[in-house]
Amino acid sequence: MMEPLQGEGGIVSPDAAFLQGVRELCDKHNALLIFDEVQTGNGRTGTFYAYQQTGVTPDILSTAKSLGGGFPIGAMLTTEKLAAHMKVGVHGSTYGGNPLACAVAEAVVNEISKPEVLAGVKEREAGSVKGWKR
Ligand SMILES: Cc1ncc(COP(=O)(O)O)c(C=O)c1O
Repeated sequence: MMEPLQGEGGIVSPDAAFLQGVRELCDKHNALLIFDEVQTGNGRTGTFYAYQQTGVTPDILSTAKSLGGGFPIGAMLTTEKLAAHMKVGVHGSTYGGNPLACAVAEAVVNEISKPEVLAGVKEREAGSVKGWKR
């Protein structure tokens, strides 16, 4: 389990070969690769999830924080193959699937998914937006 762009330990961006190596090790040892995208997810790096810029796809991805735009929600994304094991009752949570939180997250996802929003993040990252300074 790792962040595809480390936030908590300082902003550490792994090189492509390292990420590819982790993926290959997981495949070799039949281990699941989990990306924690709680900090990097939901458009914050210019793609919906940061892994989309790495060429490495995790088996499981955790997302939260900006998923709710300030409203508390977290989610786990996975492949159809793994999701098939998540039957009703396997992963219980008192507030899991809360309809209000899910409605908020849906609205946030719809906004962030707009190409102009993601492009705006990339523009700022590149420092090309007038008045924007790192
Ligand atoms: C990288 C990372 N993963 C996980 C978490 C935990 O997220 P949550 O507080 O939504 O459970 C945090 C919270 O700061 C985080 O920064």
